[in-house]
Amino acid sequence: MTGKLKVTVLYDLEEEEPAGVQEEAPPPPRRKGQKKRKKKPVKHDREEIFEALEKLGHEPSYYVLNGRQQSLLGLARCGADLIFNLTEAYAGDDTREMHVTAYLDLLDIPYTGAGPHAHILAQDKSIAKKMFAFYGIQSPYFATAWRGTIDHAHDIAFPLIVKPTSEDGSIGIDATAVVTTVKDLMERIAYIQTEFDSPALIEEYIEGREIYASILGNYENARALPLVELDLSKLPKGVPRIASQDVKFEKDTDAYRLTKSAIAEDLDEETAAKLAEIAIKAYRAVKLRDYGRIDMRVSPKGEIYVIEANPNPWLSSGQEFAIAARKSGLSYNQMVGEIVDLAMARHA
Ligand SMILES: Nc1ncnc2c1ncn2[C@@H]1O[C@H](COP(=O)(O)OP(=O)(O)O)[C@@H](O)[C@H]1O
Ligand SMILES: [Mg+2]
Repeated sequence: MTGKLKVTVLYDLEEEEPAGVQEEAPPPPRRKGQKKRKKKPVKHDREEIFEALEKLGHEPSYYVLNGRQQSLLGLARCGADLIFNLTEAYAGDDTREMHVTAYLDLLDIPYTGAGPHAHILAQDKSIAKKMFAFYGIQSPYFATAWRGTIDHAHDIAFPLIVKPTSEDGSIGIDATAVVTTVKDLMERIAYIQTEFDSPALIEEYIEGREIYASILGNYENARALPLVELDLSKLPKGVPRIASQDVKFEKDTDAYRLTKSAIAEDLDEETAAKLAEIAIKAYRAVKLRDYGRIDMRVSPKGEIYVIEANPNPWLSSGQEFAIAARKSGLSYNQMVGEIVDLAMARHA
């Protein structure tokens, strides 16, 4: 393991929020007569990572970028040996996530996870899909539409799913994203363009199991952790079996309650091995580093399609990456420690 390091856990907030070095605010004091909260509040991934870093013997701190110049200037002087990079946007703009890493590169401060080149290749799904095609990695046939310009290489057939090219967290993906008629397709394209000011990615819809491969490592040492499946089979009839925003985040919905990510137990060995191999290829194709997650679908015929590659996936202990790491025998702290070691080794 790497010796004791000053590790700055970096994350972003919107402009009106405080920037710079942060001590997490304590929870608000209990008001008179207010009952003790029964449920433990869910910990933020950054808190889990901070605690893991402490237990690993490092010296963690927090730093917030809020989109103002002061917070950028302060970051340059933060004195970290390593940034644990949890930024997902800059000033609320997630297309500028890549600029934060480019800035860290210019400052010569080591950081965990993807660099700017990986963000460019992976964030715009249409670019990632073009990379996949070059490496012979199967992903659903697609076209993009942006204000009257259509970009396509193949004919595409219904059913289709229409989504923003560069969003994350299932933004813009709900039950009406899957279309089977030209009218619904056109309406959905218009919706994506106006609502998100983004080109629409129109992709063949792949019915099948949803499998996530978490990858840890770099270059020839990148390895796939045990596969995780998001079981969508219990969604009510007539609802498309997709990981919509409700499924992912809306705890009060049936969609959330009826779906669950768990280790994919009953995949045959050959399919599991193929999934892992394809995921590592996809990870390399879009130049992910240290850790990443490749989302795939397996059709009823056993064909494997890569849906997307995620640089710096969510590391919360309840999420797919940590589930996979745990199954592979790594504790949460060991998982965090390995990401730190991988990032430091790249800078050695
Ligand atoms: N071509 C597709 N075929 C089937 N399901 C898809 C397809 N594209 C997306 N989905 C469904 O929508 C979910 C979110 O899509 P994805 O492209 O991964 O967006 P995000 O980046 O927001 O996670 C996927 O996890 C999957 O359930
Ligand atoms: Mg996804």
